Amino acid sequence: MTEQKATNVTWHDGEVTRADRAALLGHNGATIWFTGLSGSGKSTVAVALEKVLHAQGKLSYRLDGDNVRLGINKNLGFSAEDRAENIRRIGEIAKLFVDTGVIVLSSFVSPYRADRDLVRKLHEDAGMAFIEVYVEVPLAEAEKRDPKGLYKKARAGLIKNFTGIDDPYEAPEKPELVLHTDRMSLQDEVKALLDLLQQRGILPA
Ligand code: ADX
Repeated sequence: MTEQKATNVTWHDGEVTRADRAALLGHNGATIWFTGLSGSGKSTVAVALEKVLHAQGKLSYRLDGDNVRLGINKNLGFSAEDRAENIRRIGEIAKLFVDTGVIVLSSFVSPYRADRDLVRKLHEDAGMAFIEVYVEVPLAEAEKRDPKGLYKKARAGLIKNFTGIDDPYEAPEKPELVLHTDRMSLQDEVKALLDLLQQRGILPA
């Protein structure tokens, strides 16, 4: 847990509430947290879901590993400490979006259970929905897809600490949903997510 460094700082409430913003948008905010190996299909399903939500008039926003690492987290690498800080910052960013009423679609390898659990706690302590989705494929399948050629490089020793090769991936123990992207169609995956959002009251039934 990162220490609070600044002293003499206090939260300042406004006069427009989260509920007011939800009423404006017509839905609640939530974080859908996609976790899984590189190449498992996290971004693909997030992109597909974003498209459907947008067409339904629901405001969502994708936070994606590679994109965030090119911007706000450009000073972080792939050590366990840097990954933890990467996920902690994303968790805080996601919370800000959820507070505005947005449905956050967050796709990060997020290989460590403790890091994901911290983000879950950050949300739950603030009364925000956190839905962990395990995008599961066998390593061999992710490696076969290798959309960015990174597994090949990792196998050749050109990338160190690559998740699944010489760095661990800790699968979620109790995810809200598991998507087997090697066995399900993208359409069925999106449907399962929409159903879950309805069941959880994030989208109207
Ligand atoms: S996380 O572990 O901190 O959650 P994140 O999702 O932000 O990782 O970034 C993972 C992406 O960075 C992968 O999809 C891949 O494109 C790229 N990448 C580069 N080096 C590594 C590495 N050592 N391990 C995992 N992914 C890496």
